[in-house]
Amino acid sequence: MVRAQRPTDPCVVLVGATGALGVTVLEMIGEHRMRYREIRLVASARSAGREIPVGGRTETVHDLEDFDFEGADLVLFCAGEAVSRRWVPVAMAEGALVVDASGAFSSNPEIPLVVPSVNDCLLAESPAEVVAVPSGMTVPLTVLLHAVEGWRGVRQVVMSTYESASGLGHQGVEELLEGSELTLCDPGSELPADRFRPALAFNVLPAADRLLENGASRQEERLVQETQRVLGMPDADVAVTCVRVPVVSGHGATLFVETDDPVDRPGLMELLASLPGFTVHDEEAPGSAPTPLTAGDPDRFHVGRVRVSPRSSRGFLLWLVFDNLRAGGASTLLWIARIALASRASGERLKSGPR
Ligand SMILES: NC(=O)c1ccc[n+]([C@@H]2O[C@H](COP(=O)([O-])OP(=O)(O)OC[C@H]3O[C@@H](n4cnc5c(N)ncnc54)[C@H](OP(=O)(O)O)[C@@H]3O)[C@@H](O)[C@H]2O)c1
Repeated sequence: MVRAQRPTDPCVVLVGATGALGVTVLEMIGEHRMRYREIRLVASARSAGREIPVGGRTETVHDLEDFDFEGADLVLFCAGEAVSRRWVPVAMAEGALVVDASGAFSSNPEIPLVVPSVNDCLLAESPAEVVAVPSGMTVPLTVLLHAVEGWRGVRQVVMSTYESASGLGHQGVEELLEGSELTLCDPGSELPADRFRPALAFNVLPAADRLLENGASRQEERLVQETQRVLGMPDADVAVTCVRVPVVSGHGATLFVETDDPVDRPGLMELLASLPGFTVHDEEAPGSAPTPLTAGDPDRFHVGRVRVSPRSSRGFLLWLVFDNLRAGGASTLLWIARIALASRASGERLKSGPR
């Protein structure tokens, strides 16, 4: 159903509207009945002219190269780092609030990097022109560590991620599916390996992204730096290995947290259950821990296999799984957009004074 527009509703632009994240953002805008006066969809020349249903209407996709950001109140960037580096300044010059999911600005100290319920006070303190959305893995990690730091203190963190093909968008998924089909028909087939090298089908890749000179992958560096930044703990001892697994969608991770003070399982379970957006799976039966296929609600972070460290009670281990496109991507992006818009509107009201 088409909703009545109010003149105060924002004009929203979505750059990357045809991508894996962009399509999920549109899905959630419709489900949440998010209010907007107008929505403009943008992608590359490849998709220009495509028609996409959103909020009960059909919208046409525009080519970014010819697009005019004039009149936009909120621009959501979901099209990769190179696109954001080039086009975010253009959108800002037209006075739009930008929310960027590409990671292009996550280490820029001038631009707030925000995780809901951990450091969103940054947006309340001063309205931003651009807000950076952290990687999907940073979000549950920082929500959890923020709470543990206040409870027993965090001494060290060791995390291994198991990231799915959709983390690299539509092409990642297509390449995994094509490689899987070819292997099933003929195990000796030469497989496509553009997004994943070597090929991901029936394989596990020990780095989920390109390697840097120091031996870490870009994804690992980003996760550590974002975690330290969001928590305001620049020296936090966080070690991460990001692995790519042949799963279509849904990221997993194992986590070991060493704490300053001893933890007890009932207290830990209570803490985890209180975290916003988290569901704790406490079943003892084998095979009942959450998986990408069976976790349930795609808008929540699912935790299972919670164990106090066997050698010392100063630490615990757990398994985390979530939908990287919804809980880890679109949901956080839209949440940040909502509070950043509200903060900007109240900043403008304050500037213009009482009427
Ligand atoms: N996938 C995830 O789980 C996830 C989660 C959080 C954040 N992100 C971030 O979101 C961004 C998009 O990821 P994705 O997974 O959605 O990738 P994707 O499926 O490959 O989609 C990329 C989108 O960007 C558009 N695009 C690419 N190059 C462009 C250009 N030169 N000009 C205009 N539009 C261009 C594509 O348009 P065409 O269709 O026309 O090519 C498409 O709409 C990345 O920065 C990624 O890091 C992804």
